[in-house]
Amino acid sequence: MGAPAIASGIATAFDPFDPGQAQDAWPLLAELRRATPVATISGGLRYVTRYAACRAVLRDVESFSNASGFKAPGVEVPPEDRLLGELDPPLHTPVRRVMVTALTPRVVHAAEPFIEDTAAALLDAVPVPGTADLVACFTVALPNRVTVQLLGLPAGDADRLAAWAKELMESEFPATNRTARGEGFAAAFPDFAGYIDEQIERRAAALGDDEPTDVLTRLLSLTVDGEPLPRRQVRALVRNLITGGLTTTSQLLGNLLHALLTMPGLEEAVRDNEAALTQAVDESLRLSPPVLFVPRGCVHDATVAGTAMQAGERLIVGTASANRDEDVFADAATFRADRPNADQHLTFGYGAHVCPGASLARTVARLGVEAFLRRFSPGSVRLTPGYQFENVPTYFECGPRRLPVETGRPG
Ligand code: HEM
Repeated sequence: MGAPAIASGIATAFDPFDPGQAQDAWPLLAELRRATPVATISGGLRYVTRYAACRAVLRDVESFSNASGFKAPGVEVPPEDRLLGELDPPLHTPVRRVMVTALTPRVVHAAEPFIEDTAAALLDAVPVPGTADLVACFTVALPNRVTVQLLGLPAGDADRLAAWAKELMESEFPATNRTARGEGFAAAFPDFAGYIDEQIERRAAALGDDEPTDVLTRLLSLTVDGEPLPRRQVRALVRNLITGGLTTTSQLLGNLLHALLTMPGLEEAVRDNEAALTQAVDESLRLSPPVLFVPRGCVHDATVAGTAMQAGERLIVGTASANRDEDVFADAATFRADRPNADQHLTFGYGAHVCPGASLARTVARLGVEAFLRRFSPGSVRLTPGYQFENVPTYFECGPRRLPVETGRPG
């Protein structure tokens, strides 16, 4: 039954909320993309497969809402618990304006020495010769410390925050808004929520007449229609700034290191060549996107690439699929470090919700790889014999769960 069903663009068994399926869907997505720009999948969801159609949906915030975020069908999140990516205009617009101040290219540029020093210190702790898991000791630790520094949180809290973020992303919470502890963020993760509330209270107590300079204080000072944001909303947004980039940037750095350790010629191509490395970062983002898709809800009847969509229908914008659209990327399933249009991928989304952390993620990845290449001589690190790539368990993410390596091999 598989082949004819796919030919007509119907893949009723495909469930992108199941990690085993979503992360292994490349052959199915290639078939769906060939068959139709909008496929019907499990539960009657619509999956947008092609580049142009994905961009059209992401551009149209009037017809397609973010309110359900990454939640599974039927799961409702109270408005005050919503992340920036779960807000629609008009509230989205002023809140985003404040959130992006934490992540401007100027802020990121100023953080570069900290990123470089932190990356070097983490890698100096890797024994040579010896063994290490680069995920645990480097790809998770680096973005985490950078986030803590950028948000002005106490450096000593970094490990605690990383543990909370990992637990949250790997739990059922992103899909269901609950864990065994309870429903909603504060019930599901009381310690994490309590920590954020404490940070907010500390900033609120220090709130003065001066122009606020840090993002937490800016969020507290923001008024929308003359009203400050409810504290619960500020808590959701601070959580968003803490967790939004942690696991995704870890996956990016992990995917890049995995490529360096497995693809002949890549290390030579990017060593001492910043432009080549910058392009390789985008090619990794295109081919192994840390975020595989973004969901939307159809607000009113609309059409996507000729397919009629009804109000209330749920869409999955297949950004990872779009990144392999042969109409845009020649030889799309192959990693080509010198691909001229690699940065046209949709891995950071597109339009009004495009990722404000893109510049930070790219910079952390580039400086992280540079530090790795400085620390280890050519060919002196290899994956432990018998290594098998295993994905992280988060259903919409793609990256190595572990990168066990041996260091100190003769180059
Ligand atoms: C490789 C790393 C990253 C990837 C692949 C990624 C991916 C994405 C995507 C696809 C969106 C759009 C979601 C949508 O349209 O519904 C998004 C939005 C967002 N990202 Fe990232 N992201 C990354 C890193 C970061 C970092 C470092 C931060 C910083 C804290 C961050 C914070 C956010 C926020 C706050 C939004 C919501 C924007 C809005 O809705 O206006 N992300 N990200």
